[in-house]
Amino acid sequence: MRVRLVGLVAAGLIAGALAGIVIVPGAIDRLRPPVQVTSIGKAAVGGPFTLTDHTGRRVTDQDFRGRFMLVSFGFTFCPDVCPSGLQVMAAALDQLGPKAERITPIFISVDPERDTPEQLARYVPSFHPRLVGLTGTAEEIQSAAKAYRVYYRKVKDEKSTADYTIDHTSIIYLMDPQGEFVAHFTHATPVSTMAEKLAKVL
Ligand code: NI
Repeated sequence: MRVRLVGLVAAGLIAGALAGIVIVPGAIDRLRPPVQVTSIGKAAVGGPFTLTDHTGRRVTDQDFRGRFMLVSFGFTFCPDVCPSGLQVMAAALDQLGPKAERITPIFISVDPERDTPEQLARYVPSFHPRLVGLTGTAEEIQSAAKAYRVYYRKVKDEKSTADYTIDHTSIIYLMDPQGEFVAHFTHATPVSTMAEKLAKVL
């Protein structure tokens, strides 16, 4: 049973990683294996982080214990993938109704230069009233991304006003009230599929 579960989790994460590669063209040769399965049968995704939220408050992963978290990484200047993922997440939560209050949706920036708490405060409410935007120093973000096996890299982009864009993995992780990985989604997951999966675990 344990072996089967590990296999299922691994298969799911590999599928997720492949989706990430499709979303981030050119990432495939730089992407390290995104997941390791530990001997106790838990996917090694998630872990401690210390960041600053969109109201300027310092928060850690411990502040979310006792609640489910839907965690995604991205940046507010992302033209399409991040907004799509956040829209799917918000619509799925709305579809769940009051049950969704046990879930905290979280958006962690991989763009500390542009995504200040003030910038996040302008961005997150346009998707969901309870969406928490998190940012931090380059080191803090790097450490959070590492815990979630998220790849990101600044790349030059003449079309962008700031001269750069950021390639990044765009997986949405569902974490349980103990902070353990439960499931993952992508920006292409249908809203109803995400809502059904969430309803099952709540
Ligand atoms: Ni993005």
